[in-house]
Amino acid sequence: MTSNAVQWDEKLDEPYIDIVAVPGIRLTPLRDGDEASIAKLQREPMIAARMYTIPSDDFVKKNMSEVRETIEALKFALKDPETPHTFAFGYPFQSIRNSDGEVIGLLSLRPFEHDPRGISKEQMLALPRKEQTWIVGYKLHPAYQGKGIMSSSLKTAIDEWIKPWMGVGQLTAGIELDNLASLALAERVGFRRELVIDIPWTTGGTRKLAHYLKDL
Ligand SMILES: CC(C)(COP(=O)(O)OP(=O)(O)OC[C@H]1O[C@@H](n2cnc3c(N)ncnc32)[C@H](O)[C@@H]1OP(=O)(O)O)[C@@H](O)C(=O)NCCC(=O)NCCS
Repeated sequence: MTSNAVQWDEKLDEPYIDIVAVPGIRLTPLRDGDEASIAKLQREPMIAARMYTIPSDDFVKKNMSEVRETIEALKFALKDPETPHTFAFGYPFQSIRNSDGEVIGLLSLRPFEHDPRGISKEQMLALPRKEQTWIVGYKLHPAYQGKGIMSSSLKTAIDEWIKPWMGVGQLTAGIELDNLASLALAERVGFRRELVIDIPWTTGGTRKLAHYLKDL
């Protein structure tokens, strides 16, 4: 089934998806110049406390280079309704922006590197899409929290891009047991809790994480 949710912004020359449930909020790719607002977001103590990896200085550049091909192909496909949606792969909508275009949150999606089948990321990417598991990560500036923005963004990303365009079979998320907002969000979006594991944390010690799955 095709959907009109993925659009092309001619002025900014980029794809976007509007979050219908929260007027003014939009998913877009990262852009050159986003570094400062992302650094600001990641300096927020309640966000920094949850970060497993410290993003590198070239975070924006690296992410953009990973999705450039998908975006180019998408630009073409949106103008040609005959192009099958499933040509596209990867996740190019990492930024959540307000109506001024500022990055207020990040929603990431990557191939799951700790798959219980014991396969590498490369081996998983070689599997049929329906057998692949990808991991989601998200953070939202505290000024925008508690308004349904992240649950609507994740639901929209799943329904309008991940299912119809990527066609991967399963999503996963690892959430700390005391992160009530993130646990509630995962359940609201239909993830189910599988098990709780202790994982060594990058900044030292171990943390208890609930491992969640969602079949698509
Ligand atoms: C997790 C996070 C992205 C949620 O974003 P959000 O837009 O505020 O979430 P939503 O408004 O869509 O709410 C989702 C659910 O969480 C609940 N929730 C939101 N804030 C909460 C809080 N402080 N305590 C308990 N529940 C909370 C909401 O009530 C809602 O649950 P419901 O559907 O049962 O009503 C945001 O809190 C955040 O960025 N936290 C810091 C970074 C982080 O923890 N990332 C995830 C790492 S696994």
